[in-house]
Order: sequence, then structure tokens, then C-alpha cells
Amino acid sequence: MKKDYLISPSILSADFTQLGDQLKLAEDAGANWFHIDVMDGQFVPNISMGPFIVEACRRATDLPLDVHLMIKDPERYLDRFADAGASNLTVHIETCPEMHQTLEKIRKLGCKAGITLNPATSADKIQPFLKYADIVLVMTVNPGFSGQSFMPEVVPKIREVRNMLDEIKPDVLIEVDGGINPASIRQTYENGARVFVAASSIFNHPGGIKAGINSLIEKI
Ligand code: DX5
Ligand code: ZN
Repeated sequence: MKKDYLISPSILSADFTQLGDQLKLAEDAGANWFHIDVMDGQFVPNISMGPFIVEACRRATDLPLDVHLMIKDPERYLDRFADAGASNLTVHIETCPEMHQTLEKIRKLGCKAGITLNPATSADKIQPFLKYADIVLVMTVNPGFSGQSFMPEVVPKIREVRNMLDEIKPDVLIEVDGGINPASIRQTYENGARVFVAASSIFNHPGGIKAGINSLIEKI
């Protein structure tokens, strides 16, 4: 069967002393994108990385860089992330009062525009903006940290978003992020997810990065 999904390892759990090597290992093991989690200590209670790391990844791989902006006022930084080499820029509905303009700006910068929502946010909040999006990221944990447990109560929302997209814009991909592991991945696929973000189940797998990616792929 033709592969109909993408694996987007989140570098949040990578070993930053060997980032380039880890990206290569993941790429050789079948990674399709790399997910870069940007946190500002305000929208989420953690601080992670900025455009500088995107630029470093851009030099280390030719795969698309999937940048997840968990920051207040992301509009202020879109140009900088695009210049650093982001391929996709995904912003939260909870922090973008002018979502239509934000998504349009991302596209004008030449990036794919992603819209995302926290577990507690209902799908109808993003519904008016789906026609301006290329990707919908459904968070399956509260954003801020890797290694959290998957929230199964979010699964019906993946289906709800898929149904909305089928009406409005069927070619938009649903991405899931948070607690994706061999035990949780299948139910997200069955409900319409096609891009799988994973940090700890790939980079912390006891058998290494390739084993981590394989353990996800074999459950899809
Ligand atoms: C959570 C981040 C995720 C995180 C996923 O705030 O958006 O991308 O790195 O980590 P795991 O796969 O360990 O849940
Ligand atoms: Zn993320």
C-alpha cells in the first residue's frame, strides 16, 4: 500500500550535543519532516528554542522544517522564522486574535500555514479559518513539555476536524502532537491524523532513533 502518512520527529528530545548526527539518523530511518517546538515561557510554561536553531537544522537537513510556535504574538516573529528556513509555520488559535491575517502572512512568506488548538479548545473555534490553512495540528497534550501522556479524550476532536475539512478543504493534513507512541498512534490515524509528531518515543527509545521511528510506523 502506498504510504499515506508523514513522521515528524520533534527535536525537543534530541541530544543537542549531536543534533546534526541525530537528524541524519532520523532521516535515514524514514523521517519526513522535522518538528521544531518554539516556546516563550509565557504562552507555555517552558522556554525552548528560536530561529537560531531553525537555521542550524536548515543547514543539517533538506527535509521540511515544521515549526510549532507556542509563543505570544507570533506575528512579530514570522519573518524571522521564515528567513531562518522554516517550511511550515504553525500558530495557536489561543494566541492569534487575527488568525486570518496571520495565516495569510505565513503564506506570503512562502511557508505552509498551520493552525493549532490546545486540548481544551473546541474545534468550532478554528472552523472559520480552515479555508486559509494548509495544516491543522491537533494537540494531544497541553503544550509545554515533551514526555507527557497522550490525552485520549482529544481523539473525537481529530474526527470532528477531519469531517469539517472534508467539507471545506479535503487536502489539508491533520497533524497530531503530544504523547504519540506505539500505543496511541493507531487511534489517531483511524480518526484522520496523517502527520505524527513524536519527541520522546523517537529520541528516547532504548533501541535508538531508528528503532523509535520503526516502532511507530509498524503500528500505523
Ligand atoms: C509539546 C510539544 C511537542 C512535544 C512532543 O508541547 O509541542 O511537540 O515535543 O513530545 P512527546 O512526543 O514526547 O509527547
Ligand atoms: Zn510541537
